[in-house]
Amino acid sequence: YMYIYIYNFFRGLLACDLTPDHHPKKIEHSAVTILIWTHPFGRFRKLPDCYVRYQIGGCTLTDDRRAYTQADALIIHHREVATGTDELPPEPRPCAQKWIWMNYESPAHTARLGYFEGVFNLTMSYRTDSDIFLPYGYLIPRERAPLRGPTRSHLLRPRLVAWVISNWSESHARVAFYYQLRRYIQVDVFGRAGRPLPEDSGGGSVVRLVGRYLFYLALENSQHTDYITEKLWNAVLAGAVPVVLGPSRQNYERFLPPEAFIHVDDFPTVRALARYLLMLRRNPARLRRHLTWRGGYSVHQPAFWVEHYCTACRAVSRTRGRTGVVKDLTRWFHS
Ligand SMILES: *[C@@H]1O[C@H](CO)[C@@H](O)[C@H](O)[C@H]1NC(C)=O
Ligand SMILES: *[C@@H]1O[C@H](CO)[C@@H](O)[C@H](O)[C@H]1NC(C)=O
Repeated sequence: YMYIYIYNFFRGLLACDLTPDHHPKKIEHSAVTILIWTHPFGRFRKLPDCYVRYQIGGCTLTDDRRAYTQADALIIHHREVATGTDELPPEPRPCAQKWIWMNYESPAHTARLGYFEGVFNLTMSYRTDSDIFLPYGYLIPRERAPLRGPTRSHLLRPRLVAWVISNWSESHARVAFYYQLRRYIQVDVFGRAGRPLPEDSGGGSVVRLVGRYLFYLALENSQHTDYITEKLWNAVLAGAVPVVLGPSRQNYERFLPPEAFIHVDDFPTVRALARYLLMLRRNPARLRRHLTWRGGYSVHQPAFWVEHYCTACRAVSRTRGRTGVVKDLTRWFHS
């Protein structure tokens, strides 16, 4: 295997040096090999067949590093290389190979970005201006199975506000917000800091739990451009109106209709927000306005990480031959 490794390595270099404008694979076929350099957070996952799962053809995904020299692109998840759990791949890199920076944490939880200036060729994240954009969730207009519009059961739920919180930190704006809100209304808290979550606490059981509530607190751990996580989409799936704390209202409106959520910034005080929620509970007709949009959409929540790999593969196939370097990673990601 070592022999093959070295052979391919130099073959790659030669092709690069001798014929700089020649992209051998471009002409015949669009097959793409993607090497998953690290499994995110060190958790090994079986790699998908992109054709079977997403009808994306021509993708070979591998986590075998011996494929380094042949890979058209590498997916490098930020956390492992930033903490030193894993090293960056060896240089010089094979000609025309693209290194993809993949990260789904917010800037506040993304350490040592500065080490990676000018290292990557493409970015992949929840930011809409990533080279490869795949958010935590998105709406699809008029699919075959739309969200259920407001029924009596949406409007007359017995419980008011739920919040599921796994990482409680007094320094988070969301905790300060919660302390204020609970002065005015009942908030049922679940997760490590509150009542226990249902046993199988995957997305499905959270959605069922939240489905008993009128409102859900979708409060992000930090406030950054486009950083809108599964918290929002779980609320939408559950038919609870999300009360959001994250980026600006304008930013949320890139992802869903204006009436589909209640933004903490819509009110001068937390008390005014609490009053509004209580008023909605007494007025199902007003509450309905926050839910009627549902009939026209379904929600898609991309599957971590298989959908990310397949989406990257399709992007690499489409941008074959194009080159580029991510120069201002830190400035961009924090903007
Ligand atoms: C929890 O929040 C703290 C404070 O912001 C942060 O340092 C830590 O990385 C977070 N943990 C997780 C698992 O996100
Ligand atoms: C990828 O980035 C590296 C490092 O900046 C650069 O040397 C290389 O030419 C880039 N490759 C492509 C295919 O864009």
